[in-house]
Amino acid sequence: MAEPPRRVRRVELPDGRQFWLKRVERLSGRLRLQKGDPARAFAAEREGLRALAAAGLPVAGLAAEGPDWVLMPDAGPVLPEVVRDPGRDEAEKLRAFEAAGRALGRLHWAGMAHGRPAVRDVCWDGREARFIDLERFRRAKRAGFWQAADVVMFAQTAFTLWPEDGRWLEAALGAYAVSAPEGSVAAVRRLVGWLRPVGWLAAGLARLKSESRELRAVGLTLARLRAWEG
Ligand SMILES: Nc1ncnc2c1ncn2[C@@H]1O[C@H](COP(=O)(O)OP(=O)(O)O)[C@@H](O)[C@H]1O
Ligand SMILES: [Mg+2]
Repeated sequence: MAEPPRRVRRVELPDGRQFWLKRVERLSGRLRLQKGDPARAFAAEREGLRALAAAGLPVAGLAAEGPDWVLMPDAGPVLPEVVRDPGRDEAEKLRAFEAAGRALGRLHWAGMAHGRPAVRDVCWDGREARFIDLERFRRAKRAGFWQAADVVMFAQTAFTLWPEDGRWLEAALGAYAVSAPEGSVAAVRRLVGWLRPVGWLAAGLARLKSESRELRAVGLTLARLRAWEG
């Protein structure tokens, strides 16, 4: 805590145990406008960490906390690191994404939405996929808008990193479809229908900014989820 504040930092104890320290961000006026109120985001994250743990859902958890900081146990590498790791075989990578999809489905069952489950906000310790980064956590209606938005977000970040390879995303979607509340897949399709103009806009912009992986991922995401049967 005495060192200069960094929003998120890894802390290693002398005995080798690893934690992550997350603190309230101090933002200048302009960044604050772009990123929103850091204190509110921090409060949402703390609430999310507690709510998921209380519901028995896989989350990093709280080892200790103070007024403007939380300390979480290390939950393992995030999904993009798992995919990049040559020391893990394909079966394990698929298991990690299945676990992520199942975890999201269970979270939705519990009447919550993660808020922004990017693939880099899910950790895999070799056995469990756990959520981190709950700054946009909220209570949400089952099979409603915010839960559908979670799925779109997850798919969008997967297609941004792996536009040519849908294997891992498919594993997650398959597990999600059987774990999520009834009507969830239909809700995702409905949201994707509303987002159709966003797809057109992204396609137009992608022509101007052809190097943007995010923009190209929008079309892939909407097409994949529009065709989702479940
Ligand atoms: N409990 C944790 N276990 C493992 N890695 C973590 C944990 N908390 C944070 N990290 C790492 O720190 C990064 C940033 O933390 P995150 O909560 O996602 O903040 P940000 O809002 O900056 O994305 C994550 O992408 C992950 O690599
Ligand atoms: Mg993050």
